Amino acid sequence: MTQTAAPGIRIDQLGVSYGGQAVIEGLSLEIERGSFFTLLGPSGCGKTTLLRTIAGFVPARAGRLFFGEREVTHVPPHRRDIGMVFQDYALFPDKTVFDNVAYGLRARGQDAATISRKVGEALERVGLAALAQRQPAALSGGQRQRVALARALVIQPQVLLMDEPLSNLDAKLRLQVRQTIADLQAEAGITTVFVTHDQDEALALSHRIGVMHHGRLEQVGTPTEIYREPASGYVADFVGAANLLPVRLDAPVPAGMTAAVPLAGQRVPALAPAALGAGAALLMARPETIALRTPGPDGEGAMAAVVLRRQYLGEKTSYRVQLPGGEELQVDRHGPAHDAHRPGDAVVLDFDAAATRVLAR
Ligand SMILES: Nc1ncnc2c1ncn2[C@@H]1O[C@H](COP(=O)(O)OP(=O)(O)OP(=O)(O)O)[C@@H](O)[C@H]1O
Ligand SMILES: [Mg+2]
Repeated sequence: MTQTAAPGIRIDQLGVSYGGQAVIEGLSLEIERGSFFTLLGPSGCGKTTLLRTIAGFVPARAGRLFFGEREVTHVPPHRRDIGMVFQDYALFPDKTVFDNVAYGLRARGQDAATISRKVGEALERVGLAALAQRQPAALSGGQRQRVALARALVIQPQVLLMDEPLSNLDAKLRLQVRQTIADLQAEAGITTVFVTHDQDEALALSHRIGVMHHGRLEQVGTPTEIYREPASGYVADFVGAANLLPVRLDAPVPAGMTAAVPLAGQRVPALAPAALGAGAALLMARPETIALRTPGPDGEGAMAAVVLRRQYLGEKTSYRVQLPGGEELQVDRHGPAHDAHRPGDAVVLDFDAAATRVLAR
């Protein structure tokens, strides 16, 4: 597939309602041309609604939508030049694989030779050339989803929209089809919006991720930004594992500054991505960013804790530890002898100042 001049997508103050009930409000977003963008969030947060609004199946009540310079807010779906892949494949059950993929080309009135060539190429690309004459009922879930992918891409759309395309597949197939999607997207350079509630999928596939919460974008950023610098406790908790400890700040903290956050009678340095007032806040530390060791003569200043229980996970051990004040944390240890500590052991913790955050509660 040649590199397309795919437009970016711009969403400006979008509002969407179902029967007077607002589901999306004041949502603005820019998706860079040719990039892979993921909408990530829990069930009911509005991911499908936003995707279907981008496709044109759900009307915008407020705001505007652009593909590149072209405004598409009121353009019907078949004029938007999109390819769509759904969770349930949505293949025509009575058509062969070939005819399923050919559908969009026939609808566009292309000649038989062109259709044959393009469908052949598309099926080759998703590894299904040998199954062109099968019916969908005679395919596995992963094969069906590859047909759906070929069908969406064969028309060389400007924008590719995918709604949880991997969620009906078992764990192994998910990884395989995930890789197919990543390869095809990179090859075609097509602007892609991918919906999932699976954080691993989002982190693995995306150039940028938008984390949704109740019809709003809570944070938009690269996978690294979302994971390392979550803007809120909600994002930290939804993407990856996070210790979120209620704390009290004794003074306001300006945005981008490091605060000495009181915890268990000590001070933990933590960066505040946004300005915080004095009072209630959340201390955020990922389990793998906290060091855990046996207390030694150098234990001075480090935080004392007790191991409550542990889970041996092969490449790491995940410890549940308790601070003197009763707060519990998860700490993951990798490396040699990562399972050296036992329940009941006294340990000391060191927080990594570069990886610890203080967020609004
Ligand atoms: N056709 C509809 N009519 C009325 N309300 C709807 C309709 N479709 C969705 N909703 C509501 O809009 C909200 C957002 O739904 P949406 O399907 O966009 O969520 P989602 O993030 O895709 O969830 P999931 O992960 O479960 O697919 C939900 O509260 C849902 O009940
Ligand atoms: Mg959905």
